[in-house]
Amino acid sequence: MRKFTTMMTAAAALLAAGTATKAADVEVLHWWTSGGEAAALNVLKEDLESQGIGWQDMPVAGGGGTQAMTVLRARVTSGNPPTAVQMLGFDITDWAQEGALADLNILAGMEGWDDVVPEALQKFSKYDGKWVAAPVNVHSTNWVWANKAVLDELGIAPPQTWDEFVAALEKVKASGKTAIAHGGQAWQEATVFDAVVLSTGGPEFYNKVFVDLDEEALGSDTMKQAFDRMAVIRSYVDDNFSGRDWNLSSAMVINGDAAFQMMGDWAKGEFLNAGKQPDTDFLCFRFPGTEGKVTFLSDQFALFAQGPEVGKEQAALAAAIMSPNFQSAFNVVKGSVPARTDVSDEAFDACGKKGIADLKAAAASGNLVGSMAHGHANPAAIKNAMYDVITAHFNGEYDSETAVEELVNAVQINK
Ligand code: GAL
Repeated sequence: MRKFTTMMTAAAALLAAGTATKAADVEVLHWWTSGGEAAALNVLKEDLESQGIGWQDMPVAGGGGTQAMTVLRARVTSGNPPTAVQMLGFDITDWAQEGALADLNILAGMEGWDDVVPEALQKFSKYDGKWVAAPVNVHSTNWVWANKAVLDELGIAPPQTWDEFVAALEKVKASGKTAIAHGGQAWQEATVFDAVVLSTGGPEFYNKVFVDLDEEALGSDTMKQAFDRMAVIRSYVDDNFSGRDWNLSSAMVINGDAAFQMMGDWAKGEFLNAGKQPDTDFLCFRFPGTEGKVTFLSDQFALFAQGPEVGKEQAALAAAIMSPNFQSAFNVVKGSVPARTDVSDEAFDACGKKGIADLKAAAASGNLVGSMAHGHANPAAIKNAMYDVITAHFNGEYDSETAVEELVNAVQINK
């Protein structure tokens, strides 16, 4: 009983103090630098400002967050960690293992996070029974974004199967437009590979190769078929794809220069930021062969320990992120869906409503898998080794047989 009252008073003091006295700023390291991402981040900044908490921005450009994690390591090594960091999956576990993250259990207990955050996310939000990060959303990677006018003009319906997809790509190419808008960066190829592997082998195979790192499955004909399909996709991108940022590929579809982009639903944030509407200007559908299945990831904010207790501004930031109203307002703009399971889909557009329904159905039917490309299937060392093989193959350095061999080797070396 005594322990509980101290916890409650501490928690109340934590939150109240944030508003009473002039709070310090929170310095937040993140990689949300595109137009749509910045618009979503403004929702959080304004929410905190309304509580008298200032925002010190620490943006590190580079989709997928690889560059941000490198900058973070340097900051921590120099003894100057930021207050909070946007972080994904196994990276949170790695930092928690190092004892670098603040314990959010008091706040989580007070606000009942255990009851509203799905198990699949808690696996990464908690370490050793402690909440060490606050999940702001659930993104998924197995989406295709299409320009509606281009498809209508060519009489193309959203393809449901691989063969229908190839036929649609061929039709667009024959019309002289770019079939696939793609950005040639390893994390973007890996993001496409998430969907291609799921489509080719199904969720069981996906987990065998990316979670269990099963060598037989990694070296299988199914994996070769997945690489063969990546090569087909490569044949439908434009000549200038190399190095292009993901949001510039979204712009090609927004402008009607290209028909399709395969990308996580952060891409929707770019369409909305350009004033485009689902089903009017653009279409969203699951990568052919993955309808009913979801490759998920969650952006979480990990709070770096600044002392024995979580700071009051840190607690206020975490509480703001986990508030149901905020989770609706933020995700409507960001393109993702709420991490909390008790947030209504009322404010979401057709793609958002589909994302929320798909996530629920996939979780219930065993069709929810962690995105390999965004650190929810295996730790960074394995993920980065897989990136190297996938992008080398996509850029023609390996044929599919060699890519399969290299993938098995890469996992053996980094396991
Ligand atoms: C992901 C992140 C998303 C999105 C994307 C592109 O890793 O989870 O929120 O912003 O990178 O930068």
